[in-house]
Amino acid sequence: MKVSPSIISAKLEHLATEILQCESAGVDSYHLDVMDGHFVPNLTMGPDLVKAVRRNTKKKLEAHLMIDRPDKYYGPFLDAGADTLLVHAECLVDFKKLHTDITSAGGDFGIVVNPETPLEHAIPYLEDARILLIMSVHPGFSGQKFIPATIDKIRRAKNYITEKKLKVEIEVDGGINDETGSLCAEAGADILVSASYIFSGNIAERIGILKEMGR
Ligand code: DX5
Ligand code: ZN
Repeated sequence: MKVSPSIISAKLEHLATEILQCESAGVDSYHLDVMDGHFVPNLTMGPDLVKAVRRNTKKKLEAHLMIDRPDKYYGPFLDAGADTLLVHAECLVDFKKLHTDITSAGGDFGIVVNPETPLEHAIPYLEDARILLIMSVHPGFSGQKFIPATIDKIRRAKNYITEKKLKVEIEVDGGINDETGSLCAEAGADILVSASYIFSGNIAERIGILKEMGR
């Protein structure tokens, strides 16, 4: 299982140390939750924090853009060192154009669906996406409870991707811990995002537990 810690729950005053612990546990990437106070009712980080993470790791960085206008702001995140831009299917943007803009600027494109958004809304973009991010909580805050209906969505996504022989990976975000992570793994998840579970305990140990899921 691939694991992508969301640094939203890391102790920012000790960011470098917390990242070192993630590195020692062999994380695959880092997940950066970008919130604009419009698309979701919370404000978090901008490109400068992405730059700070970039200075501390060579792993892939994914910017989860919970913002109204990903088409307007993807550039500064790529410049800051993000590799993959995760864009919400709920945004009112031209996704084909955004995909072209992101990939021609050297980034990877990922599409995200909220819990209430049908999987079908992401289907047209899956062939060209690197990641399908399935939200298992309503975006905006870490520490929420996993929504069980996510499991069926993961299963359906996995069946579709297998049937169409697509390369896109399924990532799941929200309320992931040692129990829910295992349910997601069984349903077909490739990458688990976790914030509060990883950073509220022994970081390396908890990442290790998630990495074992699905074996
Ligand atoms: C939710 C964010 C998630 C969240 C995960 O809006 O996209 O990445 O921070 O937090 P946990 O793992 O605590 O649910
Ligand atoms: Zn996220």
